[in-house]
Amino acid sequence: MFDMAEIDQQHRKLVKLLKKMNEAVKSHKPRKEIYRIFEEVISYTELHFATEERVMTQTEFPETKMHKKHHKQLLNEAHLFMERLDDIGEHIFREWFNQWYYACVVTHLLHQDRRLEDHISQLN
Ligand SMILES: [Fe+2]
Ligand SMILES: [Fe+2]
Repeated sequence: MFDMAEIDQQHRKLVKLLKKMNEAVKSHKPRKEIYRIFEEVISYTELHFATEERVMTQTEFPETKMHKKHHKQLLNEAHLFMERLDDIGEHIFREWFNQWYYACVVTHLLHQDRRLEDHISQLN
């Protein structure tokens, strides 16, 4: 029997971290501090995606390939952005954190992860 408890708990922590990052950007915290939170977000996201991918394999989730691809894309974009942070102007920097990245991750949680949740609940 599988349940979503572990994944749900990780989602809550991930959203909390994203909010912390969002707040730091909004309140004009030094970039160094924002980078540190961003690194925390990325490494926690990596751990979370690994958990989800393990569950997908264990439960033979039919959309595993597509879902993994989406995870990979999100992480690639995050790493790419991380590398270019210093060259990015203040406006785009804030825009990206406050809207783009946050929105992409939350959209993933609400749509793609929801499909995994439906799959798991059908197994029980
Ligand atoms: Fe997730
Ligand atoms: Fe996911």
